[in-house]
Amino acid sequence: MGFRRSPAFTLNPSDKLKFVHPFTNFSLSIYFEFHPLYQLQFAHFQSPSYLCSFKSTNMQILKNQPLQPYNTFGIRATARHFVEVHSEHELRQALQSGIQPIFILGGGSNILLTRDFEGLVVKNDMLGKEIIDINDHQAIVRIGAGENWHQAVLWTLAQNLGGLENLSLIPGTVGASPMQNIGAYGVEIKDVFHHLEAMERATGAIHTFDKAACQFGYRESIFKKALKEQYVITQVYFQLTTQNHNINTSYGAIQEVLKQQGIQQPAIHDVSRAVIAIRSSKLPNPAQIGNAGSFFKNPEIPQTQFDVLKQHFSTIPAFPGEGGGVKVPAGWLIEQCGWKGVRRGDAGCYDKQALVLVNYGNASGGEIWQLAMDIAESVKEKFGIQLAAEVNVV
Ligand code: EPU
Repeated sequence: MGFRRSPAFTLNPSDKLKFVHPFTNFSLSIYFEFHPLYQLQFAHFQSPSYLCSFKSTNMQILKNQPLQPYNTFGIRATARHFVEVHSEHELRQALQSGIQPIFILGGGSNILLTRDFEGLVVKNDMLGKEIIDINDHQAIVRIGAGENWHQAVLWTLAQNLGGLENLSLIPGTVGASPMQNIGAYGVEIKDVFHHLEAMERATGAIHTFDKAACQFGYRESIFKKALKEQYVITQVYFQLTTQNHNINTSYGAIQEVLKQQGIQQPAIHDVSRAVIAIRSSKLPNPAQIGNAGSFFKNPEIPQTQFDVLKQHFSTIPAFPGEGGGVKVPAGWLIEQCGWKGVRRGDAGCYDKQALVLVNYGNASGGEIWQLAMDIAESVKEKFGIQLAAEVNVV
């Protein structure tokens, strides 16, 4: 006797399941009481014997989960509860689990963990890369927030779409990119951003944010300010070029690499390769040496303060700031204070880029943070400039 199998279905905690025997009309109701984060998924067989098999879905709350593999600093810390979400439905369930506080984790490439996390860590694993609209000039692509950033960039390049090449090899996930308006080598996310979708943590509703609504600034967005911890980004849409790409080689180091390679009219792939070469030579690979990229932001100071500093430190570099002031490279300030290459136990200031703090093995978050505070204090003492962390300290 063959079974006709209907599609599997999912039971949520509030659902009940009723079996009715076709001949006797005997019925049996089963109520489910289990934690809201656990679902049962039933494969439903229509057969006289009413076979019913079930298994739990792949969404599981883990307890006392080590976070070391989930942060690029490689800091040892534990999450009391931990769950990976792959869809809006799972994310909504996690947000409504009742476990507080909640910490949303992307690639863990911009955090410094200084203690265990007593609430629920939600790892955003929503995937998917898709061209949703394309014409002779441009394409709109949609990328799931959980996608690895660099793999997403390589995917756009493989589709011959331009715009993200200068942002090659940045660690982290796509969902984190608009949070802090990631930028490198003359390009920021805001230059190619179209819109995003995000789930409101309080209601589970999906809202759309266009570029203006995101209020992008230097390593800033509304999601780090007025809407801090209120939304989870689920999908990001980029507007990319299909031809006549805006090749951006304004950054001196890119020009040098292209010159060395004898490339005069670089294509988007050439720019990406040049950026990868520069990053690889200056920035430590988190797979080998724990780090979270630039630890501090480059500070912007008033022109008058800069003029005074210039009299004392004639070689101080400067770039135009966004707020009308002068941006000074924090790496230079830190190097001038003698920190470049300094190592304290396993916590250190990277010897090829002073703005990057590193974990050589077993440094604790507290040790890295102490080093960061000492660096900031000496910069304040010598230059009168207060450094602010770019990395989120948890
Ligand atoms: N500098 C030093 N010593 C150092 C490092 C830098 O003197 O050890 C001075 C030099 O004058 C150099 C200038 O700082 O010309 C700029 O250095 P670099 O080009 O390495 O860039 P950055 O300002 O240190 C910023 C971003 C990086 C991004 C690069 C390239 C911030 C906080 N950091 O660093 O982003 O890759 O520009 O565009 O804005 C990140 O955010 O994690 C990150 C790596």
